Amino acid sequence: MKTVLLINGPNLNLLGQREPEIYGRATLIEIENMVAEKAARKGIQVKSFQSNHEGAIIDFVQAEHGAADGIIINPGALTHYGYALRDSLTGVRLPIIEVHISNVHKREEWRRQTIMAEVCTGIICGLGAEGYLLALDYLANH
Ligand code: DQA
Repeated sequence: MKTVLLINGPNLNLLGQREPEIYGRATLIEIENMVAEKAARKGIQVKSFQSNHEGAIIDFVQAEHGAADGIIINPGALTHYGYALRDSLTGVRLPIIEVHISNVHKREEWRRQTIMAEVCTGIICGLGAEGYLLALDYLANH
């Protein structure tokens, strides 16, 4: 059975209440369940993890990537400055899909730069929570 890691970074535990006009009304648990249910129908197991701490995310990546087949990651604001997280992804030989709920290119200038993109297979942004499901589709097909 394939295993996909679903990782969410800082402040994404507040989805549903945090700026709903930007990030929508779905909570993180709802999103995680939605991805896990779709994955189960495709015979894929999902391991979900969220942390507000960069080091905790790095620990999770290091511990879990060896037994995984792909990663879906929304690094939150770490996207723009989290070099240690980026380095941890560089060492991972798996397809990695970077997901952003909002269209970071339509927002503040500093959000337009992602230091993760270079070490990821692809990026989905601006499609809301559906972006996570599209990332799963990609990983299921590749
Ligand atoms: C985000 C965009 C980031 O700029 C922001 O810091 C987030 C969420 C998104 O999903 O749109 O926390 O990654």
